[in-house]
Amino acid sequence: ASAEDCGIVVFGASGDLVQRKLIPALYGLHLRNLLPSRFYILGFARSDMTDEQFRGRMREAITAAHAEHPAAVAQEKLDAFLAMCRYVSGDYNDPRAYERLSMRCSTCDRDFDATGNRLFYLALPPDLHPVVTRRLAEADLTDEGPQGRPWARVVFEKPFGHDLASALHLDSLLGRTLAPSQIFRMDHYLGKETVQSVLMFRFANAIFEPLWNRRYIDHVQITTAESLGVEHRGGYYDNAGCLRDMFQNHMLQMLAITAMEPPASFQAESVRDERVKLMRSLRPWPCGDTGGELCNWVVRAQYEAAPGGASSLPAYRNEPDVAPDSVTETYVAAKVLIDNWRWQGVPFMLRSGKALHRKVTEIAVTFRRVPHVLFGLSSKAQMPANVLVLKIQPDEGIDLTIQAKQPGPKSCMSTMALSFKYKDIFGVTPPDAYERLLLDCMQGDRTLFWSREEVEAAWSLIDPVLSEWAAHPQRCPLHTYPAGSWGPQAADALMRSIGARWRRPPEMGGTHEQ
Ligand code: BG6
Repeated sequence: ASAEDCGIVVFGASGDLVQRKLIPALYGLHLRNLLPSRFYILGFARSDMTDEQFRGRMREAITAAHAEHPAAVAQEKLDAFLAMCRYVSGDYNDPRAYERLSMRCSTCDRDFDATGNRLFYLALPPDLHPVVTRRLAEADLTDEGPQGRPWARVVFEKPFGHDLASALHLDSLLGRTLAPSQIFRMDHYLGKETVQSVLMFRFANAIFEPLWNRRYIDHVQITTAESLGVEHRGGYYDNAGCLRDMFQNHMLQMLAITAMEPPASFQAESVRDERVKLMRSLRPWPCGDTGGELCNWVVRAQYEAAPGGASSLPAYRNEPDVAPDSVTETYVAAKVLIDNWRWQGVPFMLRSGKALHRKVTEIAVTFRRVPHVLFGLSSKAQMPANVLVLKIQPDEGIDLTIQAKQPGPKSCMSTMALSFKYKDIFGVTPPDAYERLLLDCMQGDRTLFWSREEVEAAWSLIDPVLSEWAAHPQRCPLHTYPAGSWGPQAADALMRSIGARWRRPPEMGGTHEQ
């Protein structure tokens, strides 16, 4: 299917996400001639701006996003793109603003000869999702025509709710105002080319799936490390924290696609059903009466300044818009068990944090060691395990470590990597996740979007931990780690509890293979 003619109404148009990700992604689609022929972008936000001022900002945003490849900002192409951009301002809770919006949409439909299909993109904090959804419905903006033509779709940026209760509240509101086919819950990790290639890798190759279980896999490490701090998002982040910002969504999705059962087809419902089945099999962490145990499963920490160290970031508490006595976690490491036949007893070790040594996202599957050591090692030494690393970003690719004989008369072994690098093979870096997902919205394909059931399952796991932390802060202390390090020592201890070490191979800026 190709993208259908439509207008995209972007809420939160003056915000960070729109300028850094959304508009550059739409421009990327424009450069590759993938936008529909009849198309427009209508920004909506509180700030007063004319169409011209909005275009000026979007021009700056696109130029900044392509700073490394200025040639991509061809003036003629950019002018043609900006000519499709318009703006309307208003308060998100003011019905009159939606009347103005409705009129602007009709004018744009006419001016751009569009068919009335509309995509409403809520690049807004979760507390505004219910308000905007309700106001859109009251202004009849989310009504669809007969047989869904013209269509109206609403995209919700993560996080979906602030906790389980608010997520359920939002869901019940959505259930009253929108049909399921109109709802797109966006998690940009699902749109990453290399995240999708995990599914291809698992289900389009015969050799790994037979090994993909408790008999052959020792443990799995999923890492999303960022070297940046909270930058100018302190206000949002201090209310959210790492568990909400990264774990409830991106981390659990990566876990789901790594561990889910093969779907019967690649249709949206089949794939989403398998993801939700997996999420429902995650063993709840000990909270409430058994809460004292939680720190043996989930470690939280916050970064500190490290003068003279690897990072020049200030302490998290000194970041702009962060409370000076904040107890918000900027790092989480967790042990997750999956209660099903395939994965019984296999620990999935997840870690994510800001201000870490370097940016890297990867899924590393460590296989069990060989049962008997033949080659020249002392009786105490262990043969290194095979590790399969699905490298999500940067240096997208796949590595499989094997043991091989070193040349020479002795039986010396070395660990080698069979390595596939996306860039070397395909000659390009993968396209941006937002481009793919925006196209999917315009085509009505919801495979790579969260279902209501997934959101609930994910919050059901996360919510008790948030409550436990709030109710018993002393049981699960907030550790600290120096900015630019690999995280707190407590996370290393968590890893030792399963007899392993966090990966810090050279390409992760470390000095040893785990
Ligand atoms: C976002 C989080 O969803 O993902 C950010 O809100 C985080 O805090 C970002 O920095 C990471 O995305 P990526 O694509 O840069 O790994």
